[in-house]
Amino acid sequence: MNINWYPGHMKKTKESIKRCLSLVDIVYELVDSRIPISSQNPDIDNIVGGKPRIKIFNKSDLADEKANEKWIKFFERRGIPAVLVDSINNKGLNQIIDMSYKLTDEKRKRLAEKGIKNKPIRAMIVGIPNVGKSTLINSLSKRKGAKVGNKPGVTKANQWIKVKGNIELLDTPGILWPKFNDKDVALNLAFTGAIKDEILDIETLAMKLVEKLNRISKEYIENRYGVSIIDKSSYDIILEIGRKRGCIVSGGEVDFTKACNIILDEFRKGVIGRISLEFPDDL
Ligand code: G4P
Repeated sequence: MNINWYPGHMKKTKESIKRCLSLVDIVYELVDSRIPISSQNPDIDNIVGGKPRIKIFNKSDLADEKANEKWIKFFERRGIPAVLVDSINNKGLNQIIDMSYKLTDEKRKRLAEKGIKNKPIRAMIVGIPNVGKSTLINSLSKRKGAKVGNKPGVTKANQWIKVKGNIELLDTPGILWPKFNDKDVALNLAFTGAIKDEILDIETLAMKLVEKLNRISKEYIENRYGVSIIDKSSYDIILEIGRKRGCIVSGGEVDFTKACNIILDEFRKGVIGRISLEFPDDL
């Protein structure tokens, strides 16, 4: 989904999310596990305020396992409960449910003292485009099925979906904007495919990705493509990958753009490996 964010649009979005927040007990904040900082909204603490929040590290299947564990600890140490999720393969969903119960325990006890029992826990998902909000809504709702339907105080657009346990999820996620004006953030979003309109041409983007991957570990490119990276520019590395992959145009030259597309595509799909681009140690 492509969204151009303007100050007026951001203000409206924030207000509409705040209205929805008043209807829920807990917020599920989605980030991309490969780039948990670049994929978070810069104003998230302020937007969510004091509401209980679970930081959901989605696409954890694409990120490095050790980095995933480090990130979870990093946020837990800062008092933000975090969970690793793979929305496509339904991994981590039970943890979301268990954590939701834990984090709303006091509120439920207070209600029970007033004689209100078994009130559903209401939750909403927020996150920047492409972090997997719709996929998570689908995988959570598949578990128990049907929508609850309209209820007083809820507009027609706000439907509640029953998920496992006594939890109801708002069917429309809150779409937030990413951080602007930060070159590294923009690159990370482009590498992972979160920004669809190119911030750079494909060739520069692929060369920057190769540089970044090689900085993190020299094994990623070498192992996947069988090319040595030592003393080579990213341009030469991509040329060699192109040659190996048969990306040749008439005249025998390498189709550089094709090779770049292969690398970007394989990185995004996780074919090069489970790779994280951000680490808590970098902060
Ligand atoms: P959004 O609502 O936040 O915008 O995201 P959406 O659910 O549409 O998911 C964006 C892309 O991310 C989809 O890929 C989806 O399949 C993928 N995705 C979501 N959750 C996970 C996950 O946990 N693991 C993996 N590996 N992928 C996940 P797509 O249909 O190919 O879309 P696109 O990448 O071509 O935009």
